[in-house]
Amino acid sequence: MRTVVPEGIDLLDLDRFRDLEHHEMFKRLRQEAPVAWQEHNLPRAAGFWNIVSHKDLITVNRDTGLYSSEIGGISILTPEEYETSSGTDPRGLMMLYMDPPKHTRYRRLVNKGFTPRMVGLIEQYLEHRAVLIVDNIIERGSCDFVEDLASELPLQAIAEIMGVPQEDRKLLFDWSNRMIGIDDPEYAGEDGAAASGELFMYVNELGKQRLTDPRDDIVTKLLNAELEGEKLSELEFDMFMMLLTVAGNETTRNTTSWGMWALMQNPDQYQLLRNDIDGKLDNAIEEILRWATPVYHFRRTATADTEIGGQQIAEGDKVVMWHISADRDEAVFDDPFTFDIERPNAPEHIAFGGGGQHFCLGANLARMELKLIFREILERIPDMQLAGDVQMLRSNFIGGVKHMPVTYSTGARRNPAPLAAV
Ligand code: HEM
Repeated sequence: MRTVVPEGIDLLDLDRFRDLEHHEMFKRLRQEAPVAWQEHNLPRAAGFWNIVSHKDLITVNRDTGLYSSEIGGISILTPEEYETSSGTDPRGLMMLYMDPPKHTRYRRLVNKGFTPRMVGLIEQYLEHRAVLIVDNIIERGSCDFVEDLASELPLQAIAEIMGVPQEDRKLLFDWSNRMIGIDDPEYAGEDGAAASGELFMYVNELGKQRLTDPRDDIVTKLLNAELEGEKLSELEFDMFMMLLTVAGNETTRNTTSWGMWALMQNPDQYQLLRNDIDGKLDNAIEEILRWATPVYHFRRTATADTEIGGQQIAEGDKVVMWHISADRDEAVFDDPFTFDIERPNAPEHIAFGGGGQHFCLGANLARMELKLIFREILERIPDMQLAGDVQMLRSNFIGGVKHMPVTYSTGARRNPAPLAAV
């Protein structure tokens, strides 16, 4: 007999995620039914297993043979189950949706663009950008943290990696937003498929330009990376750039917003960190990542009959890993609902995945961005405070902070020139 999710729990109820009621549901699931089945509320869509503990998530995440990303994709709905097509079916084309051995080959190629040397190439630029971002708001005394502070650096990092010229960077940002916020009324009317089509054409052109005009940058490195005589095809390159735009923007932006929100709600932690930025920032960033876990879930499909947590999983069943739950698992994190920048095992979070072949390719870049922006904020703004309601994205996939009004004491710019608009 399958264990089903207990009465009162519905992991498809997006309003409850928007209203931040999901933690209560996951807490109950961890206690009462750590591996449980939920039927889908669309008649043509199959139900799914839910994995909510840290231990089980790691088991599923690392076994790419038994739990496939390619067969049914990584969302709760398989592409065929969507009401309308969202454009190209990414299965087998985007690395997140590939299984080994195809994934292994692809990953070894793109890894060449993400070595510490390649990521280090943009550090100075991003450090300068972080100064400008804070300059841009410091004289005002109030702003929307998400739009004015959190969104800019991740966008600049991806654009820099992709070699997108400054004047086109706003386009990237808009495409990325339109592609992700499909379930949220604020973005209703935005056509996600059209946005991805426009982005696709843009990156295709970008790759072609770089082939004729090579530089010492990540795009050129990727276009020329070779493995056993093979290179990325044009389509593979384009799909990779698409993935970077989504994977690198929303995630880091939301982590920054969640992190600042937590610091404002815990002024003692804010002060503690400000008093010893050099000594405490690294661990604080890990705690922020645990706290935020902005990618709430990824799905797999079982490739054979198996068992997990005493439940019989059948070949073809959907298995959904809830990262947002695993990072509040009482069995791993003492007092998991306390935000503690000195938590000794904060780095055990699985915000970047539970290990294995798909582990976040951008983890080091994301950590670098988070350190740069938080250092700049902490050094220059001693007293940021919430100045209104925080508005959340209506989604059970991305923990999206849409708007977060804040106030703070004004200060002086470090750089005399205003920040160019993006
Ligand atoms: C705080 C920021 C970020 C978070 C929380 C995050 C989270 C994740 C997660 C959970 C996965 C799946 C891991 C798995 O299934 O094992 C992933 C994969 C990935 N991430 Fe990130 N990510 C972040 C930032 C970035 C950035 C900045 C980039 C790129 C510049 C990036 C690029 C990717 C790529 C390409 C993959 C696919 C890897 C593969 O399939 O082998 N991510 N990320």
